[in-house]
Amino acid sequence: MTLPPWRPLLRSALQREGRTPAARWLQLATVAADGTPRVRTLVFRGWDAHSRMLLYTDGRSSKTAELTHQPAVETCWLLPKAKQQYRFRGAIELCSIAQDADHCRNHWEQLSPGGRALWAWPEPGQPFSAGAEWPVEIEETTPPPQHFLVLTLTIERVELLDLSHHPHRRLTWSLAQRWAEQRLNP
Ligand SMILES: Cc1cc2nc3c(=O)[nH]c(=O)nc-3n(C[C@H](O)[C@H](O)[C@H](O)COP(=O)(O)O)c2cc1C
Repeated sequence: MTLPPWRPLLRSALQREGRTPAARWLQLATVAADGTPRVRTLVFRGWDAHSRMLLYTDGRSSKTAELTHQPAVETCWLLPKAKQQYRFRGAIELCSIAQDADHCRNHWEQLSPGGRALWAWPEPGQPFSAGAEWPVEIEETTPPPQHFLVLTLTIERVELLDLSHHPHRRLTWSLAQRWAEQRLNP
């Protein structure tokens, strides 16, 4: 399958960031049930074969209820060395072991033992429970819990703002237009 034209641009911007973990941090914006916005940082976990963006989260977190109510989201990814901002609009699908155990297990195994441990912590967003267990590592042989979720973002529109040019370069692509590129005023 041929890659959408924004993928190679993003890949070269990512290469410029080097090996810093921060290069894979992006912001996910959702809409809460009362219509007000929510935003937080997530780790980019990769692309699937259809150029859908993969993210992981905890099914007990607020964003899960928000996504169930309103799957339309925007992610924003800043790549400071390239001076580029990418914004992705689309809809998120949630997958737990109840929906697809193999898919979740494959992703669970991608995590480090320290990364997996977060899903064994007490419920996110609840008052701090000092007496609870806070594991440091979870081995890959432990099956993923019900609340380990793989999020798949089907991208409908991409927008790049590149500050390294004069004038700044603002490009947009949409799936509905077969990823044809359009240049906008920055
Ligand atoms: C650098 C960084 C990376 C993070 N990565 C993730 C992640 O991959 N998945 C996730 O659910 N939360 C991640 N978080 C935590 C979220 O930003 C957020 O605090 C948490 O998921 C609760 O959000 P919610 O209450 O809006 O659901 C990360 C936070 C930081 C600072």
